[in-house]
Amino acid sequence: MSTRPGGPSDTTKSASVSGVRAIVLVGFMGAGKSSVGAALSRHLGWPFEDLDERIQAQEQRSIEEIFRQSGEVVFRQLEHAALCSLVGELGASPKVVALGGGAYAQANNASLLQEAGWSTIFLDAPVEELFRRCQQQPLERPLRGDMKEFQRLYEDRRRCYLKAGSRIETAGGKDVEEVAVEAINRLGLR
Ligand code: S3P
Repeated sequence: MSTRPGGPSDTTKSASVSGVRAIVLVGFMGAGKSSVGAALSRHLGWPFEDLDERIQAQEQRSIEEIFRQSGEVVFRQLEHAALCSLVGELGASPKVVALGGGAYAQANNASLLQEAGWSTIFLDAPVEELFRRCQQQPLERPLRGDMKEFQRLYEDRRRCYLKAGSRIETAGGKDVEEVAVEAINRLGLR
């Protein structure tokens, strides 16, 4: 998946007409959750929130530092607390949200989103492609590991991602804008 700039669209329906309260992008590392989230936000004119950014801002340290200094168990607690506060804050105006790769694989987060009635979309791609994308990005990912570890984690989590409301394939030469438009169509927002 590649990126190209896109402008706001005036052909999208309002959240109240469509019944969509928030769009939550889920999927493995390298799925494009943050870049597709930013593109969706531009198209819809809805604010965009990246859950990992919220955690980092609250903690005043990077995800990599949280893992290194406090471990994954603490990171998952911070992640759940950040998602609870995000869900609690949603007012009348809808949002686009990108989760970190492990968030939706945690049962407490998945049920929180379901209870909130938020629309979840699984951004999918073959594991080799996800690994290649992660290798090309400068971002430090504590759980990326080598290809074998990456694949094992992906296979463990895939059944959780498949519980999302819809699944969009992001491989096959699609760019970020195309995936965003597909999400808008899928949710009946156009
Ligand atoms: C994680 C993925 C990361 C980040 C953290 C844990 C995971 O987010 O939340 O490093 O468990 O897969 P991205 O999917 O944006 O890389």
